[in-house]
Amino acid sequence: MKIVSIRIKNYRAFESLEIKSIPAFCVIIGANGTGKSTLFDIFGFLRDSLKNNIRQALQIRGGFNEVITRGKEQEDIEIELKFRMNILNKERLVTYLLVVGQDIGRPVVKREVLKYKRGEYGSPCHFLDFQKGKGYAITNEEDFEQTDEELNREEQQLESQDILAIKGLGQFQRFKAASAFRSLIENWHVSDFHISDARGSKDALYAEHLSPTGDNMAVVAQYIYQNHYDIFQVVLKKMRERVPGISQVEAKETEDGRLILKFQDQAFKDPFIDRYVSDGTMKMFAYLILLFDPQPHPLLCVEEPENQLYPSLLHELAEEFASYADRGGQVFVSTHSPDFLNAVSLNSIFWLAKEQGITKIFRAADHEILKRLVREGDLPGYLWNQGWFEGVAP
Ligand SMILES: Nc1ncnc2c1ncn2[C@@H]1O[C@H](COP(=O)(O)OP(=O)(O)OP(=O)(O)O)[C@@H](O)[C@H]1O
Ligand SMILES: [Mg+2]
Repeated sequence: MKIVSIRIKNYRAFESLEIKSIPAFCVIIGANGTGKSTLFDIFGFLRDSLKNNIRQALQIRGGFNEVITRGKEQEDIEIELKFRMNILNKERLVTYLLVVGQDIGRPVVKREVLKYKRGEYGSPCHFLDFQKGKGYAITNEEDFEQTDEELNREEQQLESQDILAIKGLGQFQRFKAASAFRSLIENWHVSDFHISDARGSKDALYAEHLSPTGDNMAVVAQYIYQNHYDIFQVVLKKMRERVPGISQVEAKETEDGRLILKFQDQAFKDPFIDRYVSDGTMKMFAYLILLFDPQPHPLLCVEEPENQLYPSLLHELAEEFASYADRGGQVFVSTHSPDFLNAVSLNSIFWLAKEQGITKIFRAADHEILKRLVREGDLPGYLWNQGWFEGVAP
């Protein structure tokens, strides 16, 4: 899957924001409070809505009135994603629209649509269309030869008006588009890595992917060591190159059957347990485990990866994010680091600027002067420092 555009209305500082032609690797810069975290939170909001319902997803964000753009309390929140996705062996441009509003003080799904074109021409077919808990989904979408009249529309009533239809229907195999979209959202990884969560011994529960907080890092490290030995060696080699002294990292079983990470410094006989290695060492290991994942997430979002890391390491880290995106996982990164941005192509860079409380977005590749300067050999991070990204600085 690849998201190609995002349109947002009335979500926090995004009164009306549209990002078009989104590349596989997308890097967002912007002053404090311009909406970088808010943009990533759109993905988090969808995931939470799917896991529970929109009422709960709003509640953990302060409630509808806190989430909707100030002054727009009488209107609705709209989120529209367009993405390319393989459905029944054909790549389709799918649109997912979600409109959330209030009904007598309760948040409700005012509209939810999943649509895509069945052929080259014609208007997109609505495979799922719901309003306030009622609507239909198409059950024979594989019969693409059928005329619109021959498609089976199955009317459905959801349990409540705050539940997403893609949740209510998604688990049923026959709603192909809905179930594929649902499983993609479930596999999104919005990183919320906490070094403290990654430390300490862990129950050796099976896990192949690093969790958003990183609290299963020891378990995943052991999984990669045991099942993808070559990849683990690449990770180790990079750790040795980037963190002075590190010669080995191992997930060791403790006496009570749990797992703990141990870091060997070549200068000393005994390794350090993760509690006593530096923050940056933990963070670098986490990124390597995340980015060399044998099976990339369809969408990975990471905020400010530069935190705790030595500046000269950021160039290679940015390239590793880009190659993760090349391997099939779309990546969104926010950064305050010119060193990181120096390693990013102009096509990947977007910047946010705020005017009167409302955020606008700009594409670096649409900016003629920036394009010319980079063609002539300038690097984006230096150009950012020199003020060429108009309106980005506070
Ligand atoms: N309901 C709302 N309506 C309008 N603006 C809002 C609303 N809720 C929050 N905001 C604004 O959005 C800002 C939060 O933006 P966000 O956290 O996405 O910024 P950021 O770009 O991640 O900043 P930083 O670089 O500091 O992490 C708040 O500081 C506030 O100004
Ligand atoms: Mg932020």
